[in-house]
Amino acid sequence: MKRGLICFVLGASICLLNASELYTEPFRPQFHFSPARNWTNDPNGLVFYQGEYHLFYQYNPLGDTWGHMSWGHAVSTDMVHWKHLPVALAEENGEMIFSGSAVVDWHNSSGLCRNRDPRDHSCLIAIYTGHSDHQSQSIAFSNDRGRTWTKYKGNPVIDLGLRDFRDPKVFWHEKTHEWIMVTALAAAHKVRFFGSSDLKRWTALSDFGPAGATSGAWECPDLFRLPVDAGQTRWVLSVNINPGAIAGGSGNQYFVGQFDGTRFTNDNPASQTLWADYGKDFYASQSYSDIPPLDGRRIWMGWFSNWLYANKEPTDPWRCGQSIPRVLKLKKIGNSIRLAQEPIAELASLRGEHLHIGPAGVVEANLRLRGFHSDTYELSAEIDTASEAGFKLRKGAPEETLAGYNANSAEVFIDRTRSGIVDFSGDFPGRHAGPVVAANHRIRLCIFVDRSSVELFANDGGTVISDRIFPSPTSNGLEIYALGGSARVISLDVWKLKSTW
Ligand code: FRU
Repeated sequence: MKRGLICFVLGASICLLNASELYTEPFRPQFHFSPARNWTNDPNGLVFYQGEYHLFYQYNPLGDTWGHMSWGHAVSTDMVHWKHLPVALAEENGEMIFSGSAVVDWHNSSGLCRNRDPRDHSCLIAIYTGHSDHQSQSIAFSNDRGRTWTKYKGNPVIDLGLRDFRDPKVFWHEKTHEWIMVTALAAAHKVRFFGSSDLKRWTALSDFGPAGATSGAWECPDLFRLPVDAGQTRWVLSVNINPGAIAGGSGNQYFVGQFDGTRFTNDNPASQTLWADYGKDFYASQSYSDIPPLDGRRIWMGWFSNWLYANKEPTDPWRCGQSIPRVLKLKKIGNSIRLAQEPIAELASLRGEHLHIGPAGVVEANLRLRGFHSDTYELSAEIDTASEAGFKLRKGAPEETLAGYNANSAEVFIDRTRSGIVDFSGDFPGRHAGPVVAANHRIRLCIFVDRSSVELFANDGGTVISDRIFPSPTSNGLEIYALGGSARVISLDVWKLKSTW
């Protein structure tokens, strides 16, 4: 990040000196996005345009707990290094700016683009929920690469007079040549699809739900198509739910099926729930719009927290942040099609000091790890065990976070019961496990450890667990452990990661 001035625009601009101690705080994520100060929740408006990845985010410019919701803004050329920009859309006239998305209006279908380049008619359009005594959908446009935004005069563009109607995600549907908006009817556990030719006039198309997990509000839906294999494709409808997720509180479920431009059809029984992440801290995920076809990746990130305790996390002067961006894939496992997530390759640019171990027994591997001390690293391992084996991360008496594999239960897990500060909420400590499909004695684990988080990707992202932790800065050791019998480290690579700030 460029050190210097950080400006917030809220009525008038307020500029603060970005003190050099910012981003060095004990729990400050070193390679995840977090705002310099104050509160953030959902990622919003993820769009790639003219060489920049935009990250807007739910932001409270006035405090470090939820409130005064506005869209904070940052840009990046690699989704790893972020540059802070002023607030893009601010709370105004009693209306908060809730979650939403952004698209490139390539051919000025909205008539709102005033691009000065005669060969390029495009501009950025943001689609968000205006929250007052009820919720409606509005749009805003930017003709200067997202630097300044104007709310459309004809807002709201959809108003059904509903209290729980939010989080519009818009994309261009090639086949029907129409903009599609996916929204959440949160309390009804439904998503509602709308269609439009100009992003201003919208027609309701269909509803999907209730299905899957329905014990909490449905929020922040997303819909995109992914290849499976041999020319097959499927649509993924992602629906975040709070509370009632697999690890408790907030989490992401998804449906796999078909979308014909009007209606989503679930491939699976409505009673089946698929979870994208088995940890407690991955919510309100959103995928990038307009990543160039030559790149072709579908990449998403999620809010790295949980509504059960987000407002109480022990950090200062900011609160919460985003997960690492992940590439989404569909994988065929037997007759089932499941979502897999892999960390974006760009993160490899942060790799520093490297340690390779293996093949080795646990004792030998631990001798090699004795000199390793870090709070910020990437680990890639293949382990063979007939019982339970894994890592003690961020270790320092009496703290440790376990991340491992249990061959008997065919699960991977993160156990943060003794990870450090856990007592700020009774909902925080615990063990979060996810099934490993096609399990045998061998497991491949890819783990990203930051100053206050662990993200575990098992078997090429087939099972993912994301958890925050708040260990003491001196808990920076790393060990392998094995229960009940022998385990072998087939290979282990650890890279210390450089700070992006
Ligand atoms: C999800 C959410 C959204 C809403 C936003 C408000 O975390 O509740 O449904 O738009 O946060 O900040």
